[in-house]
Amino acid sequence: RPGTMLIRQGIVVDHQQAQKADILIVDGKIADIAPEIHIIPKQCEIIEAAGLYVMPGGIDVHTHFNIDVGIARSCDDFFSGTRAAACGGTTTVVDHMGFGPKGCSLHHQLNVYQKYAKETAVIDYSFHGVIQHVNEDILAEMASMVEEEGISSFKLYLTYGYKLDDEDVLKALIQLKQVGALATVHPENDAAIALRRSQLLEQGKTAPKYHAVSRPLECEAEAIARMINLAKLAGDAPLYIVHLSNGLGLDYARLARDNHQPVWVETCPQYLMLDDSCYEREDALKYILSPPLRPAAEREKLWLGLVDGSIDTVATDHCAFTYHDQKQRGKDNFSACPNGMPGVETRMPLLFSEGVMKGRLSPSRFVELTSYLPAKLFGLYPQKGALQAGSDADLVLFDPEQEVSIKHELLHDNADYTPFEDIQTQGWPVMTISRGDVVACNGEFTGKAGNGRFIRRKPFDASAL
Ligand code: URP
Ligand code: ZN
Ligand code: ZN
Ligand code: ZN
Repeated sequence: RPGTMLIRQGIVVDHQQAQKADILIVDGKIADIAPEIHIIPKQCEIIEAAGLYVMPGGIDVHTHFNIDVGIARSCDDFFSGTRAAACGGTTTVVDHMGFGPKGCSLHHQLNVYQKYAKETAVIDYSFHGVIQHVNEDILAEMASMVEEEGISSFKLYLTYGYKLDDEDVLKALIQLKQVGALATVHPENDAAIALRRSQLLEQGKTAPKYHAVSRPLECEAEAIARMINLAKLAGDAPLYIVHLSNGLGLDYARLARDNHQPVWVETCPQYLMLDDSCYEREDALKYILSPPLRPAAEREKLWLGLVDGSIDTVATDHCAFTYHDQKQRGKDNFSACPNGMPGVETRMPLLFSEGVMKGRLSPSRFVELTSYLPAKLFGLYPQKGALQAGSDADLVLFDPEQEVSIKHELLHDNADYTPFEDIQTQGWPVMTISRGDVVACNGEFTGKAGNGRFIRRKPFDASAL
C-alpha cells in the first residue's frame, strides 16, 4: 500500500525533544507517534530504525534551480536539483524565481516556474517571488500572490542587474507587511562593490581571488544595517536576511532583535565550513559566489550564532554552474564568472556532522535550523516541519555511525564538482521519505520525476513564531 509504513524504534527528534518511538504513516501522512505501535494496517512496510535518528525532512528555503543569470543557466533543473536534495535528506525546497523579461509581472514568473517544476520535481516545492521593479501593478499583485497563489515571501536584491533603490525597497516592504508576506533580502552595497570592481579591473587585478576583494564584508554588513532600518521605517516590516556570511552583519541583526524588531537570519554551509583561503587555490573559480567566502574568523562567529539562537535557519543558496565549462568564463576576469555553487545535497550531512556529532548543536536544534523554523517562517507549518498526526510524512533517517568522505561522484546534482570535496563527515542520511514514499536510500535515488507537489504556503504570521 503506497505511502503506508511503520518506522520502528528510531530516536525520533523534533524541534523540542528526542525520544525512542514508533511512527505510523498512512497514505502519506503521519498517523501516529507512540513509544510502541502494535495496531497497523494491512500491507504496511516495516522499517527497523533502531540506532537511527528519525527527523522531519529538511526544508531548504534557498535554492536557484534552472536559473538564468544572463551569462549562464544553472546546470541543475528541478529534476536534478530536487533529486540531489532528496538524496541529502531534504524533502521540501523553496526555490527563488529568477528575473523575468524586463517589466514582467509576478504572475508571469510564477507561471514560468510552475512549468519548470511540474513534471520534474521529485519532492515538494514552493517558490519565492522576486521583486525586479516596483510600481502600482506589482504592489497590487503582491496581494493576489499571497491570497490566491500561496506565495508568501518575496526576494529583494540590493545588488546585481535588477537591484532596487531605497525608495522601491521601502514601498515594497510596506506593502509586503500589509499583505502578509515576508521580505527576504540579498544585502550587499552595490555602489561600493561597483567602484571596487572597476578599480581592481583597471589595475589588472582580474584573477578569481579578486572577486572576494571586490565585495568585502562591510559591503554586506552596511546593507544589512540599512535594510533593518528601512524595515523599521516600514512599520516593523518582517525581514529575513539570506546567506549571512559574517559576524558584523550578525551583530546588526542581534541589535535589531534586542530591540524587538522582527528580523530573522539565514546562513549556509559554505560560510560555516569554508573560508577565503579557497581563493588562493588553483580552482578558485569554484568558490566564486556572492557574498564571497570570508576570513576564517567569521566562520566561528556564525557557529556562535547557531548556538546562541541569533541565526534561525541554514539553507544552501544552491546555484550550480559547471567548473570545467561555465565557471571558466571567469578565468581571465572574475566579474565574468557566473556566481554561485552547488550544495543542496550536502547541507543536512554537513550540519549534522559538524553541528550535532561535534556537540555544538543538539539534535533538536538541528531540526529547528533545517526544518522547523524554515517551515514556520515560510508558511509551511505544520504540514511540513512537524512530527505530529496529520503532518505530511516527510522524514529523514540519519545513521550517526556512518562515516563518509564527501566526493562529488557520490552526489546527484548536475555540477562537476562539490566545494566540500574530501571533507570527512560522521552521520549520514540513509533514508529520505517524502509523503510516505522512500525517495532516497543508502545513497541511491529511488524517487520519481513529477511526484513533487507545489505547496501553497500560508501568509506570514509573526505571532505564530
Ligand atoms: O552567488 C550567488 N549566491 N548566486 C546566487 C544568487 C544569490 O545571490 O543568491
Ligand atoms: Zn511577462
Ligand atoms: Zn543572494
Ligand atoms: Zn541565492
